[in-house]
Amino acid sequence: MAVERTLILIKPDAVRRRLSGEILGRIEARGFTVRAGKLLTASRDLGERHYAEHSEKPFFGELVQFITSGPTWALVVEGEGAIATMRKTIGATNPADAEPGSIRGDLASSMPDNLVHGSDSPESAAREVALWFGDELA
Ligand code: RTP
Ligand code: MG
Repeated sequence: MAVERTLILIKPDAVRRRLSGEILGRIEARGFTVRAGKLLTASRDLGERHYAEHSEKPFFGELVQFITSGPTWALVVEGEGAIATMRKTIGATNPADAEPGSIRGDLASSMPDNLVHGSDSPESAAREVALWFGDELA
């Protein structure tokens, strides 16, 4: 399996609940390497671009409101199969359906407060890393 990079967001609900360290610890314990990281409050433009694939959905406004509601940790996480394995580590989109043992399955209970974002494909990862980090990442 190839070494991949994926964009992970520790979302504003997780930062508010002081779960950033717990979540980062799970990522590291799984064996992945954090290549870059920063704490920022996403602008409306960044939030809308990040979730552009959902722009026609009825929950788009709420989603952008949520992701811009406070500081987010943006991380570039690297490792073998990092994209798919991080999605499993994060758990199902709706925390009510997430398996115990996953981040959402252990620490969250409902949407949109699902704590973490992980890129869902190599194409999404490339787009999202560029969107959040631009040329900051060597
Ligand atoms: P994310 O992008 O945040 O990592 O989550 P995901 O891949 O697991 O889920 P995705 O389908 O990309 O949805 C993005 C976010 O939209 C909210 N959502 N609400 N009401 C709904 O039916 C619905 N579906 C999705 C969730 O907050 C999800 O994280
Ligand atoms: Mg998604």
